[in-house]
Amino acid sequence: MLLVLISFLGIHYFLGVQTQTVSQSDAHVTVLEGDSVELRCKYSYSRTPYLFWYIQHHGHGLQFLLKYYSGDPVVRGTNGFEAEFNKSDSSFHLRKASVHWSDSAVYFCALSAQCLRLQGELITNL
Ligand SMILES: *[C@@H]1O[C@H](CO)[C@@H](O)[C@H](O)[C@H]1NC(C)=O
Repeated sequence: MLLVLISFLGIHYFLGVQTQTVSQSDAHVTVLEGDSVELRCKYSYSRTPYLFWYIQHHGHGLQFLLKYYSGDPVVRGTNGFEAEFNKSDSSFHLRKASVHWSDSAVYFCALSAQCLRLQGELITNL
């Protein structure tokens, strides 16, 4: 069975005047069931970001797959998905060793700034 995995242009966050973006270069990835797959995600953010992958099945809402906060750069998520945070490459590619027909979906890579630090800045401005 042929599967189509679509990775969507990422979600943008605005934080004051600073802009972070994520981009996903593989718009459509077509693979056979049982094949391995990699969906690429590159971000632009000067500090260490929080990174997320979400999945959206046709007719459904966004579902959380996995996130990177800190520590081990290889993050394992649900259904055999994993993603690797690579700081020097500014990437967080999603991988799966053997895709199942039910993996046919739209995938979103998202980035969030580390809001706790922002909160600290706001407090010092009072
Ligand atoms: C991170 O990305 C760089 C540049 O693509 C690559 O040379 C390096 O091997 C990657 N690191 C890991 C741990 O995959």
